[in-house]
Amino acid sequence: MNDDSLEVRQVTVRFGGLTALDGVSLTAPPNQVTGIIGPNGAGKTTLLNVLCGLVRPESGSARFAGRELLRLRPHQLAGLGIARTLQGVGLFGGLSVAENVMVGATCHARAGTWPALLGLLRSDRDERMLRARAMAALELVGVAEHADRMPGTLPYGVRKRVALARALASGPRLLLLDEPASGLSEQELGELGTLISALARDLTLVIIEHRMDLMMSACDSITVLDFGKVIAAGTPGQVQADPAVTAAYLGIAADGGEAGAGAAGAGEGGAGEDGGRPGGPGGPGPAGGGAR
Ligand SMILES: Nc1ncnc2c1ncn2[C@@H]1O[C@H](COP(=O)(O)OP(=O)(O)O)[C@@H](O)[C@H]1O
Ligand SMILES: [Mg+2]
Repeated sequence: MNDDSLEVRQVTVRFGGLTALDGVSLTAPPNQVTGIIGPNGAGKTTLLNVLCGLVRPESGSARFAGRELLRLRPHQLAGLGIARTLQGVGLFGGLSVAENVMVGATCHARAGTWPALLGLLRSDRDERMLRARAMAALELVGVAEHADRMPGTLPYGVRKRVALARALASGPRLLLLDEPASGLSEQELGELGTLISALARDLTLVIIEHRMDLMMSACDSITVLDFGKVIAAGTPGQVQADPAVTAAYLGIAADGGEAGAGAAGAGEGGAGEDGGRPGGPGGPGPAGGGAR
């Protein structure tokens, strides 16, 4: 055991008139997989962006291993042992797989990530060390044989693994994954679940994901967001059985639920920007469902 807990307390984020996060609190303990789920537009990515210093919350706090994160700049994260993957893939098309992962490893090597890859490596030894770290990360996620390929020539599932290797190459103590399973086949999904469980033995892992089968099998606990609020939290079994969660995914009000969001959700307000909520009609609602 260690003290590498992520503690998010009462985080509120507003984008103009839209409250993307509304007093969100959650705890991600070390050596566990903590899941965040919720319909499109619920605020999941915004929460990760807050943790990475990309979005400044109006109020609240987020601490990792006792250190406040909310006043940090994104480039300071690696120094604190925090790494994330992006929704989608986000690899550099002009760099080989190994070079992409070396970008992740450089922040471990020394401050100043970019100069190294731009040809300013101070010695061959630096470069060999970075490459060794990158290869170890690629090995860990099972795609080392593709090290010298260009990302664009590889199947989507392999590219997702490379992106994960890049995050791992910095040797993180807190790993934040934004939809790592999107676009993966059933078999790849199972392999990812196994990998995630294995990784969590050595770090604090937070995962956002739509694929419920993965979340149910891989997560120790799950927090459910809807319209920026935590509507449920608990073990996968507990949240799956929670009527408020089912209602949020169907875009209808739970019994006795909030009239405003719920009533709108059944018709137009519940439709997210990606064509509506799972199970919903996918109607032409206003973006994000927050407009009134
Ligand atoms: N930079 C931004 N500016 C304005 N609105 C944003 C911004 N980022 C996200 N939003 C809005 O905040 C809400 C939450 O978005 P997001 O965190 O991406 O949801 P999720 O990842 O759960 O699908 C959505 O309504 C989205 O349109
Ligand atoms: Mg998102």
